Amino acid sequence: MHKFIRTITVVLAVLLPSIVSAETILITGSNRGIGLGLAESYAEKGWRVIATARNPGRAEELNALAAKHDNLTVDELDVTDDSEIAALAEKYNGTAIDVLLNNAGILGDIDKQNAQNIDYDEIKFIMDVNVYGPMKMAKAFLSHVGASEQKKILTMTSGLGSMTLTQRLGRFYGYRMSKAAVNMAMRAMHADLKGQGYVIGLIAPGQVQTELLFASGFRGPGSITVDESVAGLLNVIDSVNAETVGLPINYDGQAIPW
Ligand SMILES: NC(=O)c1ccc[n+]([C@@H]2O[C@H](COP(=O)([O-])OP(=O)(O)OC[C@H]3O[C@@H](n4cnc5c(N)ncnc54)[C@H](OP(=O)(O)O)[C@@H]3O)[C@@H](O)[C@H]2O)c1
Repeated sequence: MHKFIRTITVVLAVLLPSIVSAETILITGSNRGIGLGLAESYAEKGWRVIATARNPGRAEELNALAAKHDNLTVDELDVTDDSEIAALAEKYNGTAIDVLLNNAGILGDIDKQNAQNIDYDEIKFIMDVNVYGPMKMAKAFLSHVGASEQKKILTMTSGLGSMTLTQRLGRFYGYRMSKAAVNMAMRAMHADLKGQGYVIGLIAPGQVQTELLFASGFRGPGSITVDESVAGLLNVIDSVNAETVGLPINYDGQAIPW
């Protein structure tokens, strides 16, 4: 009897942490591109994945992942829709979310953001998605993240948001502005909340072969696959902490200057 209890105790000690303390990640824009790659990798790592998409009904690849992994759920979310954000936050009320990953983003119409043509409605829309979306998500999910072990709110930025790197090639005004703006928003939020243990950081995926990159007209040497980007991002997301958070960190671990 004694031996039986000891065996049960050992088995529980091994199994329970993995069941009870599986980390949770919420990823926006999970139906394609980098978000889809990250959702798949975290599901395979055994994390609980809350994968959001604007149109779950049309998210075939993501739905196939959910069918394969019990630990991945698909939720509808347009990051510009306040009521959808509120409903999702309410649905997961009481759930500790270790990593909120603001991945969803748009490039916008590249012909509407250059020196010859500046369309302010287009730029406002880019800001809605790339800046106010992540800010609204951070605010709505603050208590969920605060209840977790890791307390990370990470936002996907881009080298195109860097003042320092914008020397030879301009264009993409709205997209560049949005990434520079979200950098500042998250930097300021980190300054406010680091005392409470939050890690509010910026990560970047490299030049990744997704629809967004193809729409930019870039597809030159130096671009990488989603798998290559995701492999690096997993390390970056894992290693960013209260001490290292600061400059945006690229998928290869290099800091991107402001
Ligand atoms: N690819 C690159 O080289 C590169 C470089 C630097 C930074 N990034 C950043 O990485 C992130 C992911 O980009 P990606 O390359 O994977 O682009 P992508 O393949 O175009 O995917 C973008 C994702 O964002 C979603 N999305 C767009 N608007 C949304 C909204 N209002 N609400 C919710 N989701 C929305 C899209 O959903 P739908 O399918 O419904 O449109 C899609 O799932 C973006 O923030 C992007 O700025 C990419």
